[in-house]
Amino acid sequence: MTAAVATQGLTKRFRSGQVAVRDLDLHVPAGAVYGFLGPNGSGKTTTIRMLLGLVAPTSGDAELLGEAMPARRAGVLPRVGALVEGPAFHPYLSGRDNLRRADAADRTVDPRTSAARIDAALERVGLSAAATKRYRVYSLGMRQRLGLAAALLRPRELLVLDEPTNGLDPQGTREVRTLVRELAADGATVFVSTHLLAEVEQLCSHVGVMSAGQLVAQGTLAQVTAATGTRVRVEARDPRRAAAVLAEHGLSPATGTTGAAAGSAADGGAVVEAELAGADPERLLAALVASGAGVRQFALQRATLEDLFVTLTGEGFDVRA
Ligand SMILES: Nc1ncnc2c1ncn2[C@@H]1O[C@H](COP(=O)(O)OP(=O)(O)O)[C@@H](O)[C@H]1O
Ligand SMILES: [Mg+2]
Repeated sequence: MTAAVATQGLTKRFRSGQVAVRDLDLHVPAGAVYGFLGPNGSGKTTTIRMLLGLVAPTSGDAELLGEAMPARRAGVLPRVGALVEGPAFHPYLSGRDNLRRADAADRTVDPRTSAARIDAALERVGLSAAATKRYRVYSLGMRQRLGLAAALLRPRELLVLDEPTNGLDPQGTREVRTLVRELAADGATVFVSTHLLAEVEQLCSHVGVMSAGQLVAQGTLAQVTAATGTRVRVEARDPRRAAAVLAEHGLSPATGTTGAAAGSAADGGAVVEAELAGADPERLLAALVASGAGVRQFALQRATLEDLFVTLTGEGFDVRA
């Protein structure tokens, strides 16, 4: 099957000299819900704008639904629903009238079905009651919904959504995630950018992780988290001794890496953690006990997507939000 989105060496250098996206090789299989994950400023929006032909790449190639962009944009863009930040809507027109304008601008749809399709799209994003209000008075969440409605005015093979839950309250966030799932279940490929790990974990079959303009991991959720492997977590009365034992077995232990606990456990013990890195956990435990480090807990933990994200991007999520 062809990829729904594929890029090779896609690069964007702005006039300022800043390279916002560097040498990007995206591969989004047809039918995937692909989470394009990265902290703010990592190049997600710039990538999406290049994919949609809104900004020209400095170098590299992009294909949507097997068609080269931007060369084949006239043919391919009607098959793609997009939600990107930007002044797409007229402030003094109502939500419904804005959708009428958007639909009229699409020469490839039947104008006789316009009213019905607009009502269906408004209904689907929960804007029916606010359809006659001016865009100007819409909240950020309502604006996001209207953007989604515009993307849903006709059936789409691919949806490209830039942070669709931005500005939504928890209820709106849940509704948009449900909507994305429904669209995917209907057979659309979804490419959705986000800086929220939970969004990827709840929504996506695939993930690509951006850091400082580069794609640092890509694959199914399982593939990407498996690549980070297993961690060992030891709570011991004598954490230095425990760390020394781990180091003797080829691990690179860190103490006090467990967030709020800051490495200290009850009654003076402390936590030591390390990537297991192929070591035999039974032998590790035996050596720890024999060392007299005072082992109180010994646990193996599968790395989560959050561990991976912090490892790959060198920061917690949302840092620059
Ligand atoms: N039009 C522009 N001119 C110059 N720099 C830009 C422009 N748009 C974005 N950038 C810079 O490119 C980097 C990536 O931005 P962006 O693609 O918006 O990231 P994200 O969507 O992941 O938050 C940022 O450092 C941003 O400041
Ligand atoms: Mg962005």
